[in-house]
Amino acid sequence: MKKTILTGIRPTGNLHLGHYFGACKTWLTLQDNYDFFLEIADVQALTDNFHQPDKINKSVYELTSDLLSIGIDPEKVHIFIQSQIPEIAELTVFYSNLVTMSRLYRNPTVKNEIAQKKAIFGSSGESVTYGFVGYPVSQTADITAFDGELVPVGEDQLPLIEQCREIVRKFNSIYGSTLKEPEPLLSKNPRIKGLDGNEKMGKSLGNAIYLIDTEEQVKEKIMSAVTDPNKIRKDDTANPDVCMVYYYHKIIDNPNLETVCQECKMGQRGCVACKKELIERMNEFLDPIRKKKEYYRNHPEEVKQILDNGTKIAKEKAQETIKKVKTSMKINY
Ligand code: TRP
Repeated sequence: MKKTILTGIRPTGNLHLGHYFGACKTWLTLQDNYDFFLEIADVQALTDNFHQPDKINKSVYELTSDLLSIGIDPEKVHIFIQSQIPEIAELTVFYSNLVTMSRLYRNPTVKNEIAQKKAIFGSSGESVTYGFVGYPVSQTADITAFDGELVPVGEDQLPLIEQCREIVRKFNSIYGSTLKEPEPLLSKNPRIKGLDGNEKMGKSLGNAIYLIDTEEQVKEKIMSAVTDPNKIRKDDTANPDVCMVYYYHKIIDNPNLETVCQECKMGQRGCVACKKELIERMNEFLDPIRKKKEYYRNHPEEVKQILDNGTKIAKEKAQETIKKVKTSMKINY
């Protein structure tokens, strides 16, 4: 029996290098050996985009075709849409009695995200919605609806998995052993930095290279990437460790990396030449992804069919779970 993996991604935009090297590349290696459920978390995306339904709707298809373009195989992975599984919403309601408000506010992930919102919008805590504060509960439903045993996540998500485990233990202690306690599968890859040197690559930070960027866009972005500020002339010696161009040479596994590093340190390579090499290699890496994306753009009905199939399988599994849960809670009338 294969173990079950469940992970999710919010449909708020296209995939960028941060998603790919931080998370998706690991998913590609897992898809052969596990029963893999991949949730397009549209309900979760709506917790802070509830006023932008068109954006989320469009992103569901865009993101799915990006995932297919990088090689997620729908024969092996059940890609499904969260909102189409009402059992997840039901479980969320049942679990909401098993967690206190103070515990939710203390969750480091939620706490950070609220702090970020305040920093951006300068608003008081009053504008934080019930749905947003409660999203760890809904994420617990995402995981347990499919008996998720392993949850591949980045470090920032660990507190959510911990909270899920607490809710599961509480449920089982009150209603009898029913739910599986999941384990996180921590991504070994560090968070991918942005073109501007920011610790995080992100859409809202405007420092991302998207997997479907055109050659021209990639060129423009890499030409503007941050390099060692002490290197002014082409033959100045420099420190590759503070240069984003060198950083991406590393990320995309340039076979010529040692030379790039040495020549930079010795002042034998100018930044423009170094960027040109990166542009070429980056485009080589992205080209097959762009080609597949083009295919899915021309075959939207295929993307829809894949989502329908994945959602159907996910629904069957969630229905089994909700039956067990309702029996344990004695609400199986
Ligand atoms: N919260 C996750 C993120 O922002 C996405 C997500 C939704 C998720 N449901 C999940 C991750 C269930 C793991 C398991 O990246």
